Amino acid sequence: MAELAQVLRHVFPTADANALVDASTGDDAAVYLLDKDRALVVTTDFFTPVVDDPYAFGQIAAANALSDLYAMGAKPLFALNLLAYPRKYLTEGSLEEIIKGGAEKCREAGIPILGGHSIDDAEPKYGLVAVGEVDPAHMCTNDAAEPGQSLVLTKPIGTGIIATAIKAGKAGPDSLEAATASMAALNRTAGEAMMSVGVRAATDVSGFGLLGHLRQMLRVSGVSARIDSRSVPLLSGAWELANSERFPGGTLRNLEDVKEHVDFSEGLPEATRLLLADAQTSGGLLMAVPPELLPTLLSELQGRTPAASVIGQTEEGPPGRILVV
Ligand code: CO
Ligand code: CO
Repeated sequence: MAELAQVLRHVFPTADANALVDASTGDDAAVYLLDKDRALVVTTDFFTPVVDDPYAFGQIAAANALSDLYAMGAKPLFALNLLAYPRKYLTEGSLEEIIKGGAEKCREAGIPILGGHSIDDAEPKYGLVAVGEVDPAHMCTNDAAEPGQSLVLTKPIGTGIIATAIKAGKAGPDSLEAATASMAALNRTAGEAMMSVGVRAATDVSGFGLLGHLRQMLRVSGVSARIDSRSVPLLSGAWELANSERFPGGTLRNLEDVKEHVDFSEGLPEATRLLLADAQTSGGLLMAVPPELLPTLLSELQGRTPAASVIGQTEEGPPGRILVV
């Protein structure tokens, strides 16, 4: 929550020389220097179920929490479980499925879950504390984008509108399957490709939507951007649902918040504007890639991250300004 970050900044002013990245740039994880070539990267995320299947929910929540490590270019080391669950349903089996889904994702990421904490709560919630490491000279941050770079997005968007349609019984099986697979997919290959190629500016797309996270990156980097809306990859069925179903409240708020910083070209459908602001769960990495690195990055991503697309360019201009054509 942006509001929360604002409040916390006043409550906990950073006064530690080893704190390389704190909440002030809206980066995905905190980075704390251990010695000259090692820094600890720590993040946490948890939320209420976005799909009915408890195993898939566990996978998605874990992939989402780990994503903030990959967005910083970090290598995950281990995780802790964070769990809230109604005691009266304890024996029903879904709790075990959630935990199993999370454990399977951590195994895929190559890390153990070393503990955690659970509480009794009316509504289930699950996520991780995720701990990783990075070489501070090579980490990726929000504020390192420069003019003239290509913006690459590695997963399709539309999980917000699809998750809402699932709850209303309006999403087709194709959309459900595509959204679940995309949300549960680790950003590991994207993060590793980004690091091996030498990209230095990235974030991941989650609750504030593509435009919200892009704007944050542009603002703290001091650049503008131009987005080609037709190049933005969409999940199966997202476009149809965007034209027929109600968007979640978070998406409507996202568009409202970002509107004054975005110039939408005339005639751009409302459905496109809303999709670009759609609140994502466990979205892809959004990187700003220098022209000389782009061909290598795209060939690294090819086949392994099939939806990866160049969606626009950074430009010199007012910090945080976005033109969408
Ligand atoms: Co993030
Ligand atoms: Co996060």
